[in-house]
Amino acid sequence: MRLTYTSDVWWKNAVVYCLDVETFKDGNDDGVGDFRGLTQQIDYLAGLGVTCLWLMPFFPTPNKDDGYDITDFYSVDPRLGTLGDFVEFMRTAHDRGLRVIADLVVNHTSDKHPWFKEARSSKDSPLRDWYVWSDTPEPDNPDQVVFPDKEDSIWEYDKGSGQYYLHSFYRHQPDLNVANPAVRDEIARVLGFWMELGLSGFRVDAVPFLIENVDPKLAEPHEFLADLRAFMTRRMGGSILLGEVNVAYKDLVAYFGDGLGDQITMCFDFIGMQKAWLSLARCDAGALAEALRERPKPPKDSQWAVFLRNHDELTLDKLTEDERQEIFQAFGPSEDMQIFGRGLRRRLPTMLGGDLRRIKMAYSLLFSLPGTPVIFYGEEIGLGENLKAEGRMAVRVPMQWSRDGGFSRVKPARAVPEGAFGPERVNVADQKRDTDSLLRWFQLLIERYRECPELAWGESTVLDTGEPAVFAHRCDADGATVVVAHNLSDTAREAELRLDGLGGYRLTDLLVDGTTEVPDGGVVRITMEPHGCRWLRASHPDVAPEDASVKAR
Ligand code: GLC
Repeated sequence: MRLTYTSDVWWKNAVVYCLDVETFKDGNDDGVGDFRGLTQQIDYLAGLGVTCLWLMPFFPTPNKDDGYDITDFYSVDPRLGTLGDFVEFMRTAHDRGLRVIADLVVNHTSDKHPWFKEARSSKDSPLRDWYVWSDTPEPDNPDQVVFPDKEDSIWEYDKGSGQYYLHSFYRHQPDLNVANPAVRDEIARVLGFWMELGLSGFRVDAVPFLIENVDPKLAEPHEFLADLRAFMTRRMGGSILLGEVNVAYKDLVAYFGDGLGDQITMCFDFIGMQKAWLSLARCDAGALAEALRERPKPPKDSQWAVFLRNHDELTLDKLTEDERQEIFQAFGPSEDMQIFGRGLRRRLPTMLGGDLRRIKMAYSLLFSLPGTPVIFYGEEIGLGENLKAEGRMAVRVPMQWSRDGGFSRVKPARAVPEGAFGPERVNVADQKRDTDSLLRWFQLLIERYRECPELAWGESTVLDTGEPAVFAHRCDADGATVVVAHNLSDTAREAELRLDGLGGYRLTDLLVDGTTEVPDGGVVRITMEPHGCRWLRASHPDVAPEDASVKAR
């Protein structure tokens, strides 16, 4: 790893923090978060140690899908501020060393977008071909319907113009037709616009739908992604695409751009995430270990984005029905916690019953997994959900800054968590003062993650520990090694770590004080506390542990 390389390829060990401007901080006392409020909180985010903010859609919207239904790609929704406020925010974020990416939702527009209004006005409209129309759509395959609670087809009849239009998601979100070169040009223009205003890239919504559900079918769908990426790189080297690509590993490699790495820079590891939850439910490392062993290596400079929760349902769609039921039983047994028959509408701390030791272990595991961690705002304080909110909105609650909420000076427009997860119990201000808090734990994990680039950059190997409840792996890069172990169970466990090549080395614990010597044979036995976490830096006895890490940063 050359000295400047890891900062050129900044995303590879970034810490990405996803937030919705609408729920983060209200700066103008109307109960809705906005850019002015967010800008006030930048120092908090910088202090937490995250390196890249991912903004959920903040564009003008009728808000029927929480902003994922856009009516203007070149502006800011008036409820959240103005373009001027956006630029002030960007300037402040950059001043504090934070990069910013935003959702790119171009699989579809809102049906209220002027393009769609024009396109549906007549079959002869010049914009007709910007969307996907059919006189006789193929019969629906129920698997294609993403939101089965609201939709039973992906085609909707447009009475006015007498044809059906395609909508992969809700019927108010007609799919754009990227087979049309004018649409592809416009998408590039949108990217160019926001990069000019300082964005370092985009989280691309619904990527498989974007390149597949078009008419006529694209001969080379991946060429479109490669073209977009090339366009971005020409405009701004080091800009990235972070892709929502929830497909099997074998199909996913194509989205990175096979061996080339010239398409989606980072893909979310949806499979690893689902298997991690299965392991957590079973208190057994097996499922996660298997996923990591099967996970393809991303091409050079590409990366996996690892996460445990996001803003959507906790989707368990890639598990078997039995596995899904196991997780439902463990973490969301009542029906109102479940959604679409495939997921949970809860946040992590409530799923883990508020057990701080277990919650800390789960996040320690997340930060140690090979890849770039992505967290959803509020995870750092253990923010809960409000099941009274509709559907996926349950987890999109206002951030809790202080005992009285602190999100707004007036009543927040959104429902807030209650009881043990209400603001009086869960908030930033209290946790800042408490050295044992989850917030402090996150700060430590982020600091250690950044100090251990081996985790993100290295060659990772899952270790067989002889103890089913203990998940362990090692990451090696340029002669430096970090060994990590997590006890998924709530009882103490003994694990055996076979550390080839590390006989005679010392293991220094990076989270708590302590060292362990590795016997000459390279096999070390460790005792793990209930839900214990160990991040161990290996160093030769002649080298101080702090000198044993990969130096080139
Ligand atoms: C993505 C988003 C989700 C949205 C959908 C339609 O899956 O994550 O929130 O509803 O796309 O845009």
